[in-house]
Amino acid sequence: MTKKQNQDATMEKIVSLAKQRGFVFPGSEIYGGLANTWDYGPLGVELKNNIQKEWWKFFVTERQNIVGLDAAILMNPKVWEASGHTAEFNDAQVDCKTCKARHRADHLIEDALKNVKVEGLSLKDLDKLIAENKIKCPKCGQLDFTPTRVFNLLFKTQIGVVASESNDIYLRGELAQSMFTNFKNVLNTSRKKIPFGIAQVGKVFRNEITPGNFIFRTLEFDLMEFEYFIPEKDWEETFNYWMDEMKKWLDVVGIDSSRTRVREHEKEELSHYSKKTVDIEFDTPFGWKELYGLAYRTDFDLKNHTEKSGTELSYLDPYTNEKYIPHVIEPTFGLTRSVLMVLLSAYHEEIISGENGEETRVVLKLKKNIAPFSVAVLPLTNKLNDKSQEVWNMLKSNFTTDYDVTGSIGKRYRRQDEIGTPYCVTIDFETIEKDDSVTIRDRDTMQQERIKITDLVQTLTQKLKD
Ligand code: GAP
Repeated sequence: MTKKQNQDATMEKIVSLAKQRGFVFPGSEIYGGLANTWDYGPLGVELKNNIQKEWWKFFVTERQNIVGLDAAILMNPKVWEASGHTAEFNDAQVDCKTCKARHRADHLIEDALKNVKVEGLSLKDLDKLIAENKIKCPKCGQLDFTPTRVFNLLFKTQIGVVASESNDIYLRGELAQSMFTNFKNVLNTSRKKIPFGIAQVGKVFRNEITPGNFIFRTLEFDLMEFEYFIPEKDWEETFNYWMDEMKKWLDVVGIDSSRTRVREHEKEELSHYSKKTVDIEFDTPFGWKELYGLAYRTDFDLKNHTEKSGTELSYLDPYTNEKYIPHVIEPTFGLTRSVLMVLLSAYHEEIISGENGEETRVVLKLKKNIAPFSVAVLPLTNKLNDKSQEVWNMLKSNFTTDYDVTGSIGKRYRRQDEIGTPYCVTIDFETIEKDDSVTIRDRDTMQQERIKITDLVQTLTQKLKD
């Protein structure tokens, strides 16, 4: 019986569970790792794929006016010049001279001066505040910093094997640009009329100054975003519409909305392309942090690409005959960041009465649509393997189904609880000797019920829908 619930999901607990159970491993671990790179293990890849699939369904396939794209990561470097990323996609860094901790300048100001109104977040402000001894190192508390330095976040690489003949290019820092460069192609082939959107999911790369907090801020990450093309006059209404849809999305994947808030960017914080940006933030164990963003990019990108490429990226309204460069609303969602917030939302510890008195049950209460496994088939002993394999074969094409025969049944239930499997199906001796029935155990209530094998697919289908 459950006696107490404790939702204390610390980062240590999440990182440890992620590693122990095969969600996320440190990158290149056998070589001592590579800081801030992470590998998604057998369960992590299922969870990440399920979130991605749900996103695609919610924002693309279930809407008539959003279409998909899967563009090359490497693009002509002129793209990043036109988009302003080579000049403006920068962060400023300061190092603590005492403990050598590296800080992002804007975060340092925000953290150190929570109650003081700072006019803007410019480097000049920070240098002045440092000179006035108003900034303490969040790590060691000392006041001695290096001067601020600005870094471009784009990762550079080369095409061509001979150094003298090679050309510098960039790994993409956002998905958006290929949606802009393909605007004409998509418009001409999809026959969409404005308003319409182009969506994409994929890897992006940023040479972050202060990566960290597990998979929260990494050097490469998966992004899901779309560019929604509109006439300028509709921007506010469209912005509000997509903010509401973004809030609905939280529930689709079980991100605890009671731990989220909306925060509008100060003018000085805005990206170089944005006239208005609103973040959905999540209350993480390391403070309120950006989860998703919604930006009004105006016609900045299409206008610049029109000018710099010589290709007119405009739209001819078939009803009014008006020709114009569309404006853009951009909802953007970190996929790997979603994985973290999903884990933080789902992690529960419960004190239950076990065989040896009170024990703690760790359970990931993942939404059923994104759990790595929907069902686990558990033979009570390996003497029941034949029948259990039969059941697994019956379930496998309907559900993602785990099969686990090792360890006591109690331990196997605990493992399935920890990886968030909504239902366990247990095959015991009565199954083969008496009633051709199995036990279904519910992850959240731990209640068990006996079901005929012939009714199993239908019963589980119904339960997974509820
Ligand atoms: N196209 C707009 C764009 O890229 P962004 O705010 O720079 O906007 C979008 O990033 C989203 O990507 C963020 O809301 C966040 O969820 C995620 N994100 C940003 N930097 C990240 C990083 N270093 N590691 C993991 N996720 C990150």
